[in-house]
Amino acid sequence: MFIDTHCHLHDPKLIGDIDFHVQELLRDGVDIAINSACCALTSKMGCDLAEKYPSIYFMTGCHPSDVSGFNREEFDKIASLTSHEKCVAVGEIGLDYHWEPFDKVKQQECFAEQIELAFSSKLPICIHSRDATADTLKILKENKAKLQYGAVMHCFSGSKETAREVLNMGLYISFAGPLTFKNANNLIDVAKYVPEDMCLTETDCPYLTPHPFRGKLNSPKNVWLVTAKLAELKGLSIEVMAEKVMQNAKRLFYKLK
Ligand code: NI
Repeated sequence: MFIDTHCHLHDPKLIGDIDFHVQELLRDGVDIAINSACCALTSKMGCDLAEKYPSIYFMTGCHPSDVSGFNREEFDKIASLTSHEKCVAVGEIGLDYHWEPFDKVKQQECFAEQIELAFSSKLPICIHSRDATADTLKILKENKAKLQYGAVMHCFSGSKETAREVLNMGLYISFAGPLTFKNANNLIDVAKYVPEDMCLTETDCPYLTPHPFRGKLNSPKNVWLVTAKLAELKGLSIEVMAEKVMQNAKRLFYKLK
């Protein structure tokens, strides 16, 4: 019934108990979990998980905080996975100006290069943007013609104004654990504003554990808490909301079965 459109099962906090986490997500009604990559190694790890477990799919890509290691060899490894039958997107890619030091120029080059990769591979992209809204929107606008296979702003934390701009470009908006937090007033306004057919849900685990489990390890089984909060804000039953999110995810990530 549920889908976690963005998780990091390759993370050291989860991978050691991977059989347990996969059993647990299935037990709790999560039919699909999409592993989002940070570099060539984690792209390959996601691919290996997808080949082992029917419910897992994966993305391939280089996270903006990992661009220091991004070179031709990394790019080729990431690119080689795009044609895999369970590779549903290029991600996560984008800009992160939060953790110093960072190289803005290299991040922007890496972002643009991977948008190009997604376009030539006929795949959607999954965008990470932190403290970098203006530059993210600028690069997306410059590359608008290459976004025809779709895109999602993952773990959205921006304003309603940013949401409006993103939606105008045809992008999906994905909500994670912070939507359930007690101080989420801003995000709640955004979630009410985003049309039901443009919403996705995710955990971004192992971090950002939804309320009431904050402080505990996050895993894909918790995605229902985000979907339930979204259902409440939209005045829908959790079943109907979950079904809409599943349809949205399958429209965007068209390789999902
Ligand atoms: Ni992530």
